[in-house]
Amino acid sequence: MKEAIPLRRMIFPGSFDPLTLGHFDVLRRARALCDELVVAVLQNPVKAGVLTPQRRMRLIEQATEGLPGVRVVTSSDLLVEVARQQQVGCIVRGLRTAADSAGEIQMAQLNRILAPELEVLMMPTAPEYAFISSSFVRDIAARGGDIRPFVPPSIAQDVQRLYQTPGEKEAF
Ligand code: PNS
Repeated sequence: MKEAIPLRRMIFPGSFDPLTLGHFDVLRRARALCDELVVAVLQNPVKAGVLTPQRRMRLIEQATEGLPGVRVVTSSDLLVEVARQQQVGCIVRGLRTAADSAGEIQMAQLNRILAPELEVLMMPTAPEYAFISSSFVRDIAARGGDIRPFVPPSIAQDVQRLYQTPGEKEAF
């Protein structure tokens, strides 16, 4: 069996449509465990995207300004391919509740077949963020609600502006 790649660089993949405070909590804690965290905006085949991947990247870059050792990328490739391209040793996934764990374990086991050298770290989000999801954030923004309790401040401003400007809504 291949030697495991050291955990020095880790990848935090997701749809991030947009990044929430729950994602940000996991991002910050994962970053503290490694030298560099690659945040990867990827495509989830079961979710129709709303914000463009470039917008999602920009929002994450703004939210992580001042947090050293974070790099944001996007790709339409398989996660394991992106992980190899970025030379990471470990995938980080956040878990909001126990209900998330079934799908995450399945994904981790599939990815393990594709790339046995990659380790997977599952990190429960802080309980105060367990109820937050990007789809609820988008729904609240689309109906003119206040999304500031759920996303980093720079993201709240940008996403709210996007939804309030006619013709500005995006699609993946
Ligand atoms: O934030 P999400 O939607 O839960 O993230 C899921 C994501 C994007 C990480 C997952 O769908 C993914 O890895 N997509 C890239 C394509 C891929 O590798 N598919 C096989 C997964 S077993």
